[in-house]
Amino acid sequence: MTTPEPLRMPASGFVTGDSGLGHVAITSSKPAQLRGYFNTVFDARLTDYIDETISGVKLKIRFLRVNGRHHSIAIAGTQGLPIDPIRTRVQHLNIQASTLDDVAASYQRVHELGFGMALSVGQHTNDKELSYYARTPSGFEWEVGWNPVVVDESIWEPSTQQGISIWGHTPVGQTIVDKLDQFRRAARSLAATEDTVPALSGPGIPDD
Ligand SMILES: [Fe+2]
Repeated sequence: MTTPEPLRMPASGFVTGDSGLGHVAITSSKPAQLRGYFNTVFDARLTDYIDETISGVKLKIRFLRVNGRHHSIAIAGTQGLPIDPIRTRVQHLNIQASTLDDVAASYQRVHELGFGMALSVGQHTNDKELSYYARTPSGFEWEVGWNPVVVDESIWEPSTQQGISIWGHTPVGQTIVDKLDQFRRAARSLAATEDTVPALSGPGIPDD
């Protein structure tokens, strides 16, 4: 549906431009091939990496950039385990709000409109972004953030951090039923095969 009316939205704006729209975080049972894909097709570079246990699962998270944005793609894998209980799927999408007030006001609206909250407000260790994670009806999470660091390509060196958050980002209202659902989904995903396209992922980039 199109309309000549100007766009009216409650937020003052989003930070996009040359750095594009936020980032996508993908869990994968084939993180090496996925990294190979973004390297081959998008010339993605490693910004930094974090090893972290989330919901009882040990994850290796690699943050990749394609411009000044700290990361446009984050890939979380469970490499090294005898089984990979996480299939390849979008875990969350991120958009960068223009102002801290926009983040606060949207947090309020998520509550008022009755959407689920996944993680409360917190701040990430690596890109220092202040954000929260809401739950979309489709099942993936929606991270609204503010003020992440911008990478200066001439001096940046990949490093690692302890944990994904300096403070906050605590799970909101997760019940034992949600937990059981999570394991049920994980078990189901083991039965699903995933296709890879070697021409696009190259030899793959294994985790360091
Ligand atoms: Fe994120």
